[in-house]
Amino acid sequence: MSNETEVGPASQMTPGTVIGAGKYAVGNSDGEVFAVTRRCRHLMADLAEGTIDSDGCLTCPWHGAKYDTGSGRMVRGPQGIFARIPFLGAAFKTLTHVLPLGRGRVTDRDGTLYVE
Ligand code: FES
Repeated sequence: MSNETEVGPASQMTPGTVIGAGKYAVGNSDGEVFAVTRRCRHLMADLAEGTIDSDGCLTCPWHGAKYDTGSGRMVRGPQGIFARIPFLGAAFKTLTHVLPLGRGRVTDRDGTLYVE
């Protein structure tokens, strides 16, 4: 049995879009559709509520950590008060080099996207 989850119409996955589909945050970063697991490695915010920045990274809605959507690695640590804690950002970046966000595979069948 497939673990596939329907995402929605491919036509609605325009650049800059991020939505939730099952355990994944599915989005379009500079024309590339990606799927990463939804929970931020910092404090578990839902990355499906995040945004795609002009640099193509997925930004966490709570404290602004940024993720590379291809590798699932954090490329900027949590911001705000957390950015003042020495080595915290570096620690999370290192953590996600070992334990990146999980990545899903997105397929387009007849104009509908699915992720597994
Ligand atoms: S929960 Fe994502 S940066 Fe804090």
